Amino acid sequence: MSSPVLELRKLTRHYPTPAGPVMAVHELDLRVERGDFMALLGPSGCGKSSLLNLLGCLDRPSCGELLIDGVAVSSLDDDGLARLRNHKIGFVFQHYHLLPRMSAVRNVELPMMYAGIPPAERRQRAVEGLERVRMAHRLEHTPSMLSGGESQRVAIARALAMNPSLVLADEPTGNLDTRTGEEIMQLFEKMHREGTTLVMVTHSPEMAERADRILRLRDGRIESET
Ligand SMILES: Nc1ncnc2c1ncn2[C@@H]1O[C@H](COP(=O)(O)OP(=O)(O)OP(=O)(O)O)[C@@H](O)[C@H]1O
Ligand SMILES: [Mg+2]
Repeated sequence: MSSPVLELRKLTRHYPTPAGPVMAVHELDLRVERGDFMALLGPSGCGKSSLLNLLGCLDRPSCGELLIDGVAVSSLDDDGLARLRNHKIGFVFQHYHLLPRMSAVRNVELPMMYAGIPPAERRQRAVEGLERVRMAHRLEHTPSMLSGGESQRVAIARALAMNPSLVLADEPTGNLDTRTGEEIMQLFEKMHREGTTLVMVTHSPEMAERADRILRLRDGRIESET
C-alpha cells in the first residue's frame, strides 16, 4: 500500500508570546490520501493558516511529526525542504504573494527557474500555465496592473508550474467577488478531477461542501470530520 500524501502524528504548533504560549495547532492526527480534496473550516483564529503553513513546510512544528509521501519532514535539512516545496507542493495564498516587480509570466516561471529548467522551456510552460487559467492575454502585466481575481489566477498558475502532487490553498477565494470566486473553485475542482491532492482553507460552508472531506477545527484541534 502506498503512503498517504500527508500523515500527521500529534502535529503541534505553539507560538511563544509574552502572555504565554498560543496553542494554534494542538496534537493533530490526520491522514490525507492521494486524490483527496479536503476543506479546512473553522472560526477565525482556530489555527487553519497555522496548520496549512506546517503542511506546506513554510513553518516547522513545535512537536509531533509530519510525513509527506512517507518522508518525515523533520529528517530533511533546509535544502531537502526547499526541494520538497519546489517539486511536490503548490501553495496558494489569500493575498496572492506575487513578486511585485515581475510580470505575470515571470512570476509563473520562478519556481521553474529554482528547479533549473532552461529559459525557453520554462517560458513555454509558463505561457501554457497562464492559458489554463485564462490569463494568456496578460503575460507582461505586473501584479499592480492586475485585478484581484487575475492575480489569484496567476498565483494558481505559479502554484501549478512544477506539476505538484499536493496543492495547499489558504482562503483562495477570500478576497474575490462571488463570480470570480466561483471561477477559482471550478479551477480547483478541475485539478481535483485530474488527480491532484488538495487541501483548502475556507470560511465558507458552501465552498467547503464542494470538497469531499470537511475538517472542522476549533482552538487548534479537530472538532469533527464529515
Ligand atoms: N506568529 C504568531 N505568534 C503568536 N500567535 C500567533 C502567530 N500566528 C498566529 N497566532 C495565533 O494563533 C492562532 C491561530 O492563528 P491562525 O492564523 O492559524 O488562525 P486562522 O484559523 O487561520 O484564522 P483566520 O480565519 O482569521 O485566518 C490565533 O489565535 C493567532 O492569534
Ligand atoms: Mg488564516
